[in-house]
Amino acid sequence: MEPQQAQILDGKLVAEHTLQKIMHEVEGLKSKNICPKLSIILVGENPASISYIRQKRKSCEKVGIIDDQINFSETISEKELLNKIKELNKDNSVHGILVQLPLPKHINERKIIEAINPVKDVDGFHPVNIGKMFLGKDYEELSPCTPSGIIKILEYYKIDVVGKEITIVGRSNIVGKPVSTMLTNRSATVTTCHSKTKDLKFHTSRADILIVAIGRANFITADMVKEGAIVIDVGMNRVEDPNSKTNYRLTGDVDFENIVKKAKAITPAPGGCGPMTVACLIENTIKATKILNSII
Ligand code: GUN
Repeated sequence: MEPQQAQILDGKLVAEHTLQKIMHEVEGLKSKNICPKLSIILVGENPASISYIRQKRKSCEKVGIIDDQINFSETISEKELLNKIKELNKDNSVHGILVQLPLPKHINERKIIEAINPVKDVDGFHPVNIGKMFLGKDYEELSPCTPSGIIKILEYYKIDVVGKEITIVGRSNIVGKPVSTMLTNRSATVTTCHSKTKDLKFHTSRADILIVAIGRANFITADMVKEGAIVIDVGMNRVEDPNSKTNYRLTGDVDFENIVKKAKAITPAPGGCGPMTVACLIENTIKATKILNSII
């Protein structure tokens, strides 16, 4: 008998599908003389940040959003950065503002995020947007992109979450906490695990859907996963690989090779949540453009 092989949940494909739909919306906006514009701020030269921004800008160009990258040196003061954000908040030609994280240690990330006009906060990190999400699905407006991407992938593959046992490993403000809220809004039974969780395997192995966003390569092994589970791997870790030209390769948080034989469906990493995060950022930029122009 052939060994069982999980269905691959193809984030690139779903992202492409999402971008195609957005492309038509951009055409509609342009016919009304509205040209969506996203301003991206990069502080310093973090290689991962540069690579993420490159992908975001590529998708902007694909759908016809104006992308404007603003680079600052690592030594910029918090005040100067706040002034730039104030300027972009006032600029009516700008619909989305994204400050790529992490920021240098001398800059207070929270202060920067809170300075962004919540209506232009396409990352969905502002407390106003996080707070709205807490009130229920109908209040979700500009939601964080990775959680939205996860929900979109589940919807595309018709994976119902109502009443499902969903375990999330990781409680970050960017992924773990918001995806937990959004799935509760959609009537799943959610357990959020973290570094202080007493018996992690107990929680992961009873999950119908397991979402992992912990930032450690191969952290979840096959023995921690229920037979026939759906596995969503949010991780993107650089691990040494002497066979690679760059001397490293990218890998997720789960042991894909072994879990693929046990799960019902699994996202690859790369090629799963990453492209979906970018697609949802583009979607948020269009949503912000519409809100700012009183179209929704
Ligand atoms: N750094 C890692 N992920 C993200 C993200 O989704 N948005 C921003 N702004 N910075 C990040």
